[in-house]
Amino acid sequence: MTPIDTIIVGAGGRGNAYGNFALEHPREMRVIGVAEPDPIRRERFVRRHDIAPDLVFDDWQSLLATHDKKAPTIINCTMDRFHFESTLRMLALGYDVLLEKPMTPVLEENARLVRKAEELGRVLQVCHVLRYTPFWQALREVIQSGKIGRVISVTHRENLSYYHMAHSFVRGNWRSEATSGPMILSKCCHDFDILLWILRKNVARLNSFGSLSHFRPEHAPEGATERCTDGCPAADSCKYEATRLYARDGSGFPLNAVSWIPTKEARLEALKTGWYGRCVYHCDNDVVDHQTVNMELEDGATVTLVMNGQGDEECRTMRWDGAKATLYGKFSARGDEITLHHHLTGEVEDIPIIARDSSGHGGGDYGIMRSFINTVNGNPDDSVTTARESLESHLLAFAAEEARLNKSVVDMNEFRARLETQARA
Ligand SMILES: NC(=O)c1ccc[n+]([C@@H]2O[C@H](COP(=O)([O-])OP(=O)(O)OC[C@H]3O[C@@H](n4cnc5c(N)ncnc54)[C@H](O)[C@@H]3O)[C@@H](O)[C@H]2O)c1
Repeated sequence: MTPIDTIIVGAGGRGNAYGNFALEHPREMRVIGVAEPDPIRRERFVRRHDIAPDLVFDDWQSLLATHDKKAPTIINCTMDRFHFESTLRMLALGYDVLLEKPMTPVLEENARLVRKAEELGRVLQVCHVLRYTPFWQALREVIQSGKIGRVISVTHRENLSYYHMAHSFVRGNWRSEATSGPMILSKCCHDFDILLWILRKNVARLNSFGSLSHFRPEHAPEGATERCTDGCPAADSCKYEATRLYARDGSGFPLNAVSWIPTKEARLEALKTGWYGRCVYHCDNDVVDHQTVNMELEDGATVTLVMNGQGDEECRTMRWDGAKATLYGKFSARGDEITLHHHLTGEVEDIPIIARDSSGHGGGDYGIMRSFINTVNGNPDDSVTTARESLESHLLAFAAEEARLNKSVVDMNEFRARLETQARA
């Protein structure tokens, strides 16, 4: 097998997760270039992948400034608001692109990206990693086998742990709509994608409720300081206290977001001035901390998506009620479970799930790398998330946000037609 050569753009959390795949599977992929502005991240990445100096760039702009194509593929792991411009340029230069989700936080840009990739005949695959996990593949197989009968009602919960909520959506990268996007898009485009992938039916209409209810100054403990490192009197009783969360041994997410120098001391130092040392009640966050979306499918089935940022355990849980059986599922690092409760016989059936590999997102991080490699080699599997398919899940997230803000019910046919008109204009 000849390895696929790739360039990673953005050597942060995601860039390293995919980079690790190449290090562990050198016969499948080689990382031959990088674009990353942060010198510590860049140099560490160059060292790990042994990248030649002429393929090391300070940013995507300088990598893509000239017309020569430096590899057949690029993995775009920059932050959400950089995705559109950089990906357009990558496609125009002839790269096949694996793009992190969300495609872009601006509604019309999503349609433009899809159209550009199709026009140019380039691969544009989106990192909906859940599709590539044993859990979701098993769940999809059960539903599509007809074992639960016609699907009538689904409740799907994205239970963010309280510390992940605070890390990413209060203190960190996705805290503000202006710099990232609405949380229902950033966090739940995966959930919309996986639901559509399993249901194979379109949503006819939806509504949504939610708000930023907890992470506000009025909920701060009495006397709370602006930073946890300023001798906060609530330190012992606050579950978000930063030194307890971050100044500890370990590596990987979320510790490396605080500092890529992997010591407790470096992290403690970073907490004194960086984002992650801030009191969660005194941040510049404006995205919601809980939201629900109610959807009615074309065949009348209903689906409720609950996104909640106060979970004790990071997991997705779900209940699917069909005409023949009820399915209960839990997707969690502590263990995956799917059980079927057959209505006629009362039998409870455990659905076997293949063990996850050790990669992130329940095995999805490495699963998507293999799928991308197969796609660029001309053998796409049936899980592949084309940009066209991804567009539909993104549209649901944008429609949900519109419904939440306007307190309205969004008709998805009208919403899609409106987008088409805007994209053509
Ligand atoms: N698929 C998933 O489940 C999943 C999970 C987490 C994050 N994401 C997505 O992955 C993307 C990256 O997230 P992350 O957690 O790795 O963030 P990150 O902040 O750790 O990494 C982003 C990197 O991009 C670099 N960067 C900034 N400007 C750049 C430029 N001009 N050119 C090149 N690089 C630049 C930053 O310095 C940083 O190292 C986001 O779009 C995010 O939404 C997806």
